[in-house]
Amino acid sequence: MSKVINKTLIIGLGLIGGSLAKALKLNRRFGQITGYDRNPDEVLAGLELGVIDSVATSLADAASEADLVVLAVPVKAMETVLVDIAPFVAEDTLITDVGSTKANVVNTARRVFKQIPPGFVPGHPIAGAEKSGVAAADEKLFDKHKVILTPLAESSSEAVKLLSDLWQSTGAEVLVMDVPKHDEVLAATSHLPHILAFSLVDTLAQEENHNTDIFRYAAGGFRDFTRIAGSDPTMWHDICLANKAALLEQLDCYMAGLHKLRTAIECSDSETMLGTFTRARAAREHFSRILSGTAYSQDMSNQQVTFRALPGGSVSGSIRVPGDKSISHRSIMLGSLADGVTQVSGFLEGEDSLATLQSFRDMGVVIEGPVDGNVTIYGVGLNGLQAPPGPLYVGNSGTSMRLLSGLLAAQQFDTELTGDASLTKRPMGRVADPLRLMGAEIETAENGRPPLKIKGGQALKGIHYTMPMASAQVKSCLLLAGLYADGETSITEPAPTRDHTERMLAGFGYPVQQQAATATVQAGGQLHATKIDVPADISSATFFMVAAAIAPGSDLTLEHVGINPTRIGIINILRLMGANLDLLNAREVGGEPVADIHVQYAPLKGIHIPEDQVPLAIDEFPALFIAAACAEGTTIVSGAEELRVKESDRIQSMVDGLKTLGINIEGTPDGAIIQGGRIGGGVIESHGDHRIAMSFCVASLRATDEIIINDCANVATSFPGFIELAKSAGIQVEKEVD
Ligand code: S3P
Repeated sequence: MSKVINKTLIIGLGLIGGSLAKALKLNRRFGQITGYDRNPDEVLAGLELGVIDSVATSLADAASEADLVVLAVPVKAMETVLVDIAPFVAEDTLITDVGSTKANVVNTARRVFKQIPPGFVPGHPIAGAEKSGVAAADEKLFDKHKVILTPLAESSSEAVKLLSDLWQSTGAEVLVMDVPKHDEVLAATSHLPHILAFSLVDTLAQEENHNTDIFRYAAGGFRDFTRIAGSDPTMWHDICLANKAALLEQLDCYMAGLHKLRTAIECSDSETMLGTFTRARAAREHFSRILSGTAYSQDMSNQQVTFRALPGGSVSGSIRVPGDKSISHRSIMLGSLADGVTQVSGFLEGEDSLATLQSFRDMGVVIEGPVDGNVTIYGVGLNGLQAPPGPLYVGNSGTSMRLLSGLLAAQQFDTELTGDASLTKRPMGRVADPLRLMGAEIETAENGRPPLKIKGGQALKGIHYTMPMASAQVKSCLLLAGLYADGETSITEPAPTRDHTERMLAGFGYPVQQQAATATVQAGGQLHATKIDVPADISSATFFMVAAAIAPGSDLTLEHVGINPTRIGIINILRLMGANLDLLNAREVGGEPVADIHVQYAPLKGIHIPEDQVPLAIDEFPALFIAAACAEGTTIVSGAEELRVKESDRIQSMVDGLKTLGINIEGTPDGAIIQGGRIGGGVIESHGDHRIAMSFCVASLRATDEIIINDCANVATSFPGFIELAKSAGIQVEKEVD
């Protein structure tokens, strides 16, 4: 940066001008701070209070000497001030303002300067207080607040950079946007609510006879809502005129919404009323989270969760683990796209499925719950989704991102899918590539990683796709895109993978043809709302199946577990290893087979896990590695390279962890060779992978010493309440939260 600021002139020493002067004086990078105000008392008070270094008596002299001029006057006074200073400012003087509307300031500047100087960059700090005047100046006023700069075509990049530095030095976050966008955003988020508050208070105040009573009994809601009607009337009069066009547009939009709501109330139309209120509440939660910079549900990244497991013990009793993650995701997706109201019970209230739920709320779907696993989804039909207000954040959930990408590629609006640090490392090319073959427009980060930027309005065409890997997520993504694609979309899998999407589509009355390894859908159908009973997740039950299989004295029943044939690799493999495992009460619930699983301890033996079982047990390998470490002999895992691209590189995470505990294990590119042995104690890194964390917790049953597992917050993605349930079954584990 070449330009050095020796003198800064602040014109208008009210709350904003005074606070900026005070903040700039603190770091001294912006030279001597001179103040000017048409009210001499304000400027003298500013000097006395130490807000400024010196007082400008002649605006002309001060403007000609200044390297930087800040116009901190009301928007209406902008013209007079610009006329006064224009003849005196040097060609390279930096000029900015703090007005809350921008088009009118820029128009005025164009009139006054004829040619906008390169140092002119309009700005708007979004900060304020009910107090006014220089006496209220506060150097922290802009700290953690937003400042919008609206550079013009004429503005030099050097000027933009310097003014960004200036505002950042006050602690503010600087955003850059163009003038029309600024005025539109501010009309909606600031000017409209002020107008509503003024109007409401005025309307009530005019209701003769009632007004004293109304105001006497006005409780919290009224007070909160109308707080901003206490702002300066002249200023708001000026702002309304200055931003007339954008404000009128927002006002019309609001009045249309209000009219709709009025009609709904008049007609006792509960669905519209509940829809409006539920959407509004969800939207408010959504933007509150965005404003506070936290994730959609809980900010897990800030929470250090450690599991501390004591050695020994056994598991017994009868327990039910939470709902199936895959089915929970799909219930929200298909329920949202259906016509009618879908009731879901047994829904997994874990971070991953909640991320999917939130995404659909963000796209305008009214969803009630979850309450005790019950969710009600007011479907909007296949073409009823609306553009979300911002990027869809899906946390740790690969299933949300991959399945949603297929659906979003076919929508009329643009979307962006983002996730946490772990998800951002996972491959999305496997969905983006075939979707592009269908005509989708998708941009990824380097090497096909998230975020995914999906362009709406593309006409998709059906393809026949043979997947290079056995992935239910890829298959489901393409089936969902196929609901919108011209012609037939068929996907062939190299080995059977979970078929929940196909089953659930059929449950919603949407035809899916299944022929050998190929599933086919055609566009043009309709989903009809239904009831979904989500069984307990066999992947979560796995931790307890392995626990009972390895710990002498165990006798455990897992209730109502989904035993879909594409998910029972774990049962087949444990039986091959010698586990004593029975399926009781086998039944079918809403198109998915379910049973109670009874496991009693029996010594396990090492095996070469048949490769055809790998996709059927893909999420169960971390726990299977523990079973193998407790088995007699060698267990070989092969054909499981997919494990390297899960929430962590699960082969590496398990090899490292088991080595720490003294097990003889060797990783291979597509699996591992594990020698059964004696499990010791130690400190394990879970790498934020829920299944790694839970697996080592189970290992403690056969350990000789304490096992400490780091980075366990993500257990909440798939298994809320894991620790409590594990303890109730007999695992001696405690959770520590920092
Ligand atoms: C899932 C499919 C599997 C699995 C994941 C859930 C699904 O992923 O690992 O936990 O719900 O479709 P892949 O399709 O990547 O194998």
